[in-house]
Amino acid sequence: MVNSRDTPPPAPLDAAALHRVIAAFGESFTLPAGAYTSRDVFTWEREHIFGAGWVCVGRADDLLGPGQARAISVGDEAVLLTRSGDDLRAFSNTCRHRGHELAPVGRAFDARLIRCPYHSWSYRLDGTLNSAPTLTQAAGFDRDEYPLNPVAVGSWNGFLFVDLSSTAVPLPGLVGNLTEVLADYELELVVPVARHEYDVAANWKTIVENYNECYHCSSIHPELCEVTPPESGIDIEPTGLWCGGTMDLKPHAVTMSLDGMSQGSLFRQLSNDQLKQVVYVTLFPNLLISAHPDYLLVHRLTPLDCDRTTVECTWLFAPEVAERESFDPAYAVEFWDITNREDWAACEAVNRGLHNRGYRPGPLSSWEGTVYQWLGLLARAYLGMGLTVPVVPERKM
Ligand code: FES
Ligand SMILES: [Fe+2]
Repeated sequence: MVNSRDTPPPAPLDAAALHRVIAAFGESFTLPAGAYTSRDVFTWEREHIFGAGWVCVGRADDLLGPGQARAISVGDEAVLLTRSGDDLRAFSNTCRHRGHELAPVGRAFDARLIRCPYHSWSYRLDGTLNSAPTLTQAAGFDRDEYPLNPVAVGSWNGFLFVDLSSTAVPLPGLVGNLTEVLADYELELVVPVARHEYDVAANWKTIVENYNECYHCSSIHPELCEVTPPESGIDIEPTGLWCGGTMDLKPHAVTMSLDGMSQGSLFRQLSNDQLKQVVYVTLFPNLLISAHPDYLLVHRLTPLDCDRTTVECTWLFAPEVAERESFDPAYAVEFWDITNREDWAACEAVNRGLHNRGYRPGPLSSWEGTVYQWLGLLARAYLGMGLTVPVVPERKM
């Protein structure tokens, strides 16, 4: 188990179908339809994946500044984030008096105290109770007994994660060697320059699966195939709960853009190999990071229902590039916005196909080794075997 200390019960899916997903690569099949279409499975995922382990909620600096608070949605709950200097904390967004939410989900706001709107109990940014009208003056009332309930929070390379259950293993166990794989891309320093939010009528896993293969690239991505050979994917062996690898840039391309040219600057530490490739990784369960030689593209998935997902897509650049007055990120934004929309159309069409009674799990091609890792991770979790580090299959077919 990597993302949680507790092993969840099996999901309401056919065990025999799930065992076919974890058969050897070349003999395995995709997930049964219910994994994508069943509300009961979605409820199970909300409880045992998004409600019981680390989930990325965004970039810490984007979410709130020092002296601020903000309520955000996580699964079907809300978490109150507070930041005092560098001390970033998370609490369940519920008052210790009679449960009123402390703040509506929305923008960050400046706060010295968090005041519950209902009867004005107030809390400090560290969650301790400051005052409760009439009660704090009453004999026998101990304000130390009523702090806000903390939620586990952690940060990695500028990304903020929360664990609603507070049962997850420490964050380094989740990311494993992903830290080294991305060490040269200045993840701590990069700043967001553009952001798009997409509402996709597809299951969140379909979007991850689509991200993890380029078997579809020649069919639906003419622009992408101009700058990257679709067959060039090579997986990296993970030691954490992630999967992914590299794809090459074509000889004329410096980065992923319509003409292969960059209007930014290359990250300074990259090796010659890294300058000729892009790293694509999925950190379980909802963070996709695409590290280009000159920028990072980050997709963060928020499942709203079994067939609806919000995808927040952010383009991040080195600060010295972002600060340049003449800098225009359109070369990267336009390229990936076109590609994203091609992908979402495919994912939505898969979603419609999954709802047809003639859907049956299908076999994977030799180009879909990363999808195999991802599906195996999920199938084991659905079977009640917990979450385990994916193993890169041999490309033997
Ligand atoms: S519910 Fe918050 S003060 Fe009463
Ligand atoms: Fe794609």
